[in-house]
Amino acid sequence: MSAADTLSFQRLNPSLGVQVTGVDLADPAFRSDGTNLFGQIYRGWLDSGGVMVIRDQNLEPEDQLAFSRRFGELDPLEGATVEPYLHPEHREIYRVSNKVKDGVKLGRQRAGVYWHSDNSHKERAAKASLLYGIEIPPYGGDTMFSNMTVAYEALSETFRRTIDGLRCIHDFEKAKSGSFKNETVTDRHLTTTPPISHPLVRTHPETGRKCLYLNAGVITGIEGMDPEESAALLDFLYRHCIRPEFVYRHQWREKDLLIWDNRCTMHYAVADYDGVGERYMHRTTVFGDRPV
Ligand code: SIN
Repeated sequence: MSAADTLSFQRLNPSLGVQVTGVDLADPAFRSDGTNLFGQIYRGWLDSGGVMVIRDQNLEPEDQLAFSRRFGELDPLEGATVEPYLHPEHREIYRVSNKVKDGVKLGRQRAGVYWHSDNSHKERAAKASLLYGIEIPPYGGDTMFSNMTVAYEALSETFRRTIDGLRCIHDFEKAKSGSFKNETVTDRHLTTTPPISHPLVRTHPETGRKCLYLNAGVITGIEGMDPEESAALLDFLYRHCIRPEFVYRHQWREKDLLIWDNRCTMHYAVADYDGVGERYMHRTTVFGDRPV
């Protein structure tokens, strides 16, 4: 039986999330695209609402890097505040973990514990992130995702007309006192990624659908509004986007490779597993184009 006979997609949730089984991403035939399965996986990812989990993968760092590169150019994250957590031999892998060995943290603890889209403070904000679950606590440590396309489409037409065309300032400086307050935010990080304006409503470059584009960790306000107006509007939108019917909560299994589309989702890592168990993951991050 060929790999193409066993590849299978199952929807996980009405608003977003698809599970894939029956493929071995480390198989040389898959890697050389002898099977032509990548096209089906990529299409399934675009149709998933923004989150796909590929189960039961045995991935060496090289396998994850090779698969991730099929989504686009990798963001090496060099010079970023998370630089101490990059894999020592494979610098495009960012380690997320609560493990400590000989007093050294093996990854960033409590990464992503707020609703965000990766690297939205950059001009080339992230397209995709691929997170591989190597060690998973027996329970807890889920990751939640919201579908920003359906969240946008659920707004009234009048409200949508009001917000179409607005732009937000994404400024990593804000992370210093919030999402990155336990890290040393480097001057290099701040000077290489100065505050940037991105549309509040963006059009997905591949599906053509409009979606909200938000990141509670770095957005400092809406251009042209006074701070109170901006805070009231953003506060409404943040609450709206994470309504339960727009959210999928991923309960990790070992060897899951989770791939999310930062252009049309936000995510939140649930930090509820202190004292429960160890969590160790490898993340790769794919550059996107400037949001429009
Ligand atoms: C992240 O935001 O990249 C971390 C997600 C997670 O650890 O679940």
